Amino acid sequence: MTSTRLPDSLIPTLPGSAYTDPGIFAQEQEHIFEMMWFCVARSSDLATPGAFRTVDVGRESILVTRARDTSIRAYFNVCRHRGARLCTDEAGEVRRAFQCPYHAWTYDLDGKLVAAPNLTRMPDVGRTEYGLVGVAAREWLGYVWVCLAENPPSFEKDVIGAVVERLGDVESIEHYDIANLSVGRRIVYDVKANWKLIVENFMECYHCATIHPELTEVLPEFADGYAAQYYVGHGAQFGAEVRGFTVDGSAGLDRIPGVSEDQDRRYYAITVKPQVFVNLVPDHVIFHRMYPMAHDRTVVECDWLYLPHVVASGKDVRRSVELFDRVNRQDFEACERTQPGMSSRLYAKGGVLVPSEHHIGAFHAWVNERLGTRRPE
Ligand code: FES
Ligand SMILES: [Fe+2]
Repeated sequence: MTSTRLPDSLIPTLPGSAYTDPGIFAQEQEHIFEMMWFCVARSSDLATPGAFRTVDVGRESILVTRARDTSIRAYFNVCRHRGARLCTDEAGEVRRAFQCPYHAWTYDLDGKLVAAPNLTRMPDVGRTEYGLVGVAAREWLGYVWVCLAENPPSFEKDVIGAVVERLGDVESIEHYDIANLSVGRRIVYDVKANWKLIVENFMECYHCATIHPELTEVLPEFADGYAAQYYVGHGAQFGAEVRGFTVDGSAGLDRIPGVSEDQDRRYYAITVKPQVFVNLVPDHVIFHRMYPMAHDRTVVECDWLYLPHVVASGKDVRRSVELFDRVNRQDFEACERTQPGMSSRLYAKGGVLVPSEHHIGAFHAWVNERLGTRRPE
């Protein structure tokens, strides 16, 4: 076989199998999603003790809840008796305990085994030892993040560090006070594409002029194809005639008070690997979490966050939501169009990245490094 040398302008992508092989997806679950901090829920979805949500993280089901002391808790959603799934509902609320539907072992919100048939006749069974097994959990930006690793990596370095790497400092995101914004709208997209295609799409803007007419109208510099994530601290400026980040450029909602003059009339996009994208604009924040379900399926949950009084007063956020909802649909359609090509023999060795996409090469190198694989020369 002759190896063809690429022109200097082009660098290779991952091979097609990286997007189609269930075995590679299983490795990603083990080495990426089960090892890193993974964003599972909005804190306000777990507002009170006993509110819960179940989420698949890698190959595990995780039960996330709030204890009596209001701290966030995450447990393997597996009964310690004979392994039944403790909670089958995606979300809900218990008064004070989780009871297994099989033989009624019952765990309090701290995970302790508090009741079971005949438990008093088994005094040697430790209530904590046979309690639910916890995983690391914490809250940041009003979201719950969990980590299944036995020794979780530094949250400061991996999660906060990713934001700092993009914006230059942590204060820049603090200005948006994301933890105290309210969810004005949530849309869940079921995307028939590998999670990496969605990350790659989010990282580049080479496609913006082709598929995002509304977005390039609001952010004219996107028409040149240079992604907002390309330069540290850079936010794409609104067009001169644009009044707000809305589908028709009409005025947005009330500006978040902490947003600085430099940040006003600008759009910032941030990727927090492996599954979070955040968009910052002066009057709202768009927060995406991806839930990779299979090698060819990813559920994306997206929140539009506004100042609490904007949501409480029932202000019309439709034009505001519609802009990025359209962008999402345009992007996910492109990802779904790409997924079948990944299994073509033509793509066995992958495709190419143009200069404005070269930073995606760093993402590919990162995936390979996590999986311990090296690209064949
Ligand atoms: S498996 Fe849960 S109580 Fe038996
Ligand atoms: Fe896009």
